Amino acid sequence: MISNDELIAQARDARRWAHAPYSNFSVGAALLSSDGRVFTGCNVENSTYGLSMCAERVAIFKAISEGANEIERVAVVTDHEHIAPPCGCCRQMIWEFASDETQVILANLSGDVRTYKIRELLPEAFDARYLEGVS
Ligand code: THU
Repeated sequence: MISNDELIAQARDARRWAHAPYSNFSVGAALLSSDGRVFTGCNVENSTYGLSMCAERVAIFKAISEGANEIERVAVVTDHEHIAPPCGCCRQMIWEFASDETQVILANLSGDVRTYKIRELLPEAFDARYLEGVS
């Protein structure tokens, strides 16, 4: 099984493809799905700023569109002295495909690493359970 260090290395590699000319904030992500595959992503910005997409969601879209259905771990790498946490949209998107054990591994280029359970990053999440029985 792939180690957290290897997942971080893949996120660091993916970060090199970031298209971030507007924010100059490059992000890389590497997602391990429960079937053992790894999907990577980087942020992709646009001159119409609102169209920009985060690295985590790029990796999620790649994974789900190729038949993965559960996120086991996702590593996110930035180049900030303080480890940058995922934005709210990405937390919600991770939650959609998470189990109770899903881990979010945050790292920077200096080698600092922090690991969370997604439920720590998104307590009281909204999800499909609230849609059951809705007419
Ligand atoms: N960004 C990500 O890729 N992931 C996050 O969780 C936070 C922000 C990107 C979006 C944008 O391209 C740049 O970082 C600055 O917000």
